[in-house]
Amino acid sequence: MKSGLLADLEVFQQFAVPTPVTIRTCTAGDLPNLEWFGMFAAHREIIQAAYERQEQGENVMLVADVHGWAVGQLWIDLAKKVEQSTGILWALRVFPFLRNLRIGTRLIKVAEQVLRDRGFDCAEIGAEKDDPAARRLYERLGYRLVGSERSEYSYTGPDGVPVHVPVDEWILHKRLVRGRTGRTPVKEMCLAKLQEEH
Ligand SMILES: CC(C)(COP(=O)(O)OP(=O)(O)OC[C@H]1O[C@@H](n2cnc3c(N)ncnc32)[C@H](O)[C@@H]1OP(=O)(O)O)[C@@H](O)C(=O)NCCC(=O)NCCS
Repeated sequence: MKSGLLADLEVFQQFAVPTPVTIRTCTAGDLPNLEWFGMFAAHREIIQAAYERQEQGENVMLVADVHGWAVGQLWIDLAKKVEQSTGILWALRVFPFLRNLRIGTRLIKVAEQVLRDRGFDCAEIGAEKDDPAARRLYERLGYRLVGSERSEYSYTGPDGVPVHVPVDEWILHKRLVRGRTGRTPVKEMCLAKLQEEH
């Protein structure tokens, strides 16, 4: 039988696989998976440090879980700009063959809700200057350019070699509109206290 004819058989027809995706916080058991079969093994130290900061309440690591695997991630730095009531979204990535399925968009929306729930007024995200697609995505989701930043991050890979990575990125902000009352949890607490006193 010729291969062209094989493709005509029903069993070779394309079929869709419905796959539930759950956005949840990262657990210790996810940490090896976040290395994505070695693609991010060099970042082991960064992943571990981010997890320790999550344990201390300074960072939230969201993962997009498919069948127990973290196929996407987005971390939220709660501490760095807390005085400006701004949470920083960072380390956004989706496993390459699952991109353009809106997993990245959902991760961002969940992160914004996490910030709203904690009373933050603003979300910040950086888009590397050589990645116009990322900036387009963020602007489509309501982020507006507020400036640019040059920085550097460093880590020591599992091979013991120190690595320094320069970063040149656009900085974008989004104001987080809350529910109908417009109250933050902090405001709610103050209101509850006032009601107790009167
Ligand atoms: C950016 C990223 C997380 C988006 O995830 P995703 O699940 O594909 O996102 P969505 O499906 O919700 O949205 C897709 C949109 O993101 C855009 N996009 C943004 N950055 C992209 C990138 N680096 N590569 C591919 N697409 C990107 C696509 O162009 C697409 O926009 P379009 O619909 O106008 O074509 C994913 O592309 C990724 O992991 N990229 C590599 C890591 C990265 O660049 N992170 C951002 C650091 S600045």
